Amino acid sequence: MKGKEQPQSVYEAFDADPPEMLAAKRKTIRLFERGAAYYYFKEVSQALDLFRQCLDECPDDRLARVYADRCEQFLRTGIHEGTGEVDLAVQWGPGIEIGHTVIDEQHRQLFASVNAFTDTIKKDRDFSHAGPIIDFLDEYVQIHFETEESIMEMNGYPFMDVQKEQHQRFFRRLTSLKREIAEDTDWHFLLFKIQVLLVDWLVHHTCKADRHLGKFLRLEKTTDRQRTIQSGADPA
Ligand SMILES: [Fe+2]
Ligand SMILES: [Fe+2]
Repeated sequence: MKGKEQPQSVYEAFDADPPEMLAAKRKTIRLFERGAAYYYFKEVSQALDLFRQCLDECPDDRLARVYADRCEQFLRTGIHEGTGEVDLAVQWGPGIEIGHTVIDEQHRQLFASVNAFTDTIKKDRDFSHAGPIIDFLDEYVQIHFETEESIMEMNGYPFMDVQKEQHQRFFRRLTSLKREIAEDTDWHFLLFKIQVLLVDWLVHHTCKADRHLGKFLRLEKTTDRQRTIQSGADPA
């Protein structure tokens, strides 16, 4: 799982920056993302060049420094801090189910449409047919997030704000991804972003945040049933 989680951490580290650093890094984000993509695919000389440009612009950018060091290490030793794998497939399985019928069914549909999207891209490395699928995905994700959030609200889930913030952040990224797919032709960069933003994010969020929600809902159900039994009403 190391290779799967590493690219995700690129964005988590970016989000954790203080506001003044974020403002400075916004100028270099495209350089940085492109550098991360090239590093991921082991095109390390190009990656190093991009991280150096980030550091020229923002010398305190610690993440660009870490990646520049990793590139130099790779060029010296051949050691790469990632697997370089991009499989673009989301495997559905019992490990991903959260135990709520409606949410699990939506996750199954969502993962199927992500796979349809990535299959289209993988076939001929052509993004020109991807528009309708990504539009569908965009709409479906919106329905799914609204469903989850209303279930959280109805059940008094205490971490709803955290989930909502993650959902909103995903939307912002999906919107910028749609724009980049329309404008950009850099295959490495787009593939990396789809892997990190779509595939890894969905698996990560479903397995961690949504599963926590599933556990909470099951506990609530059990507690409600116990309360009903204690009050003498029919639990059926
Ligand atoms: Fe979900
Ligand atoms: Fe969620």
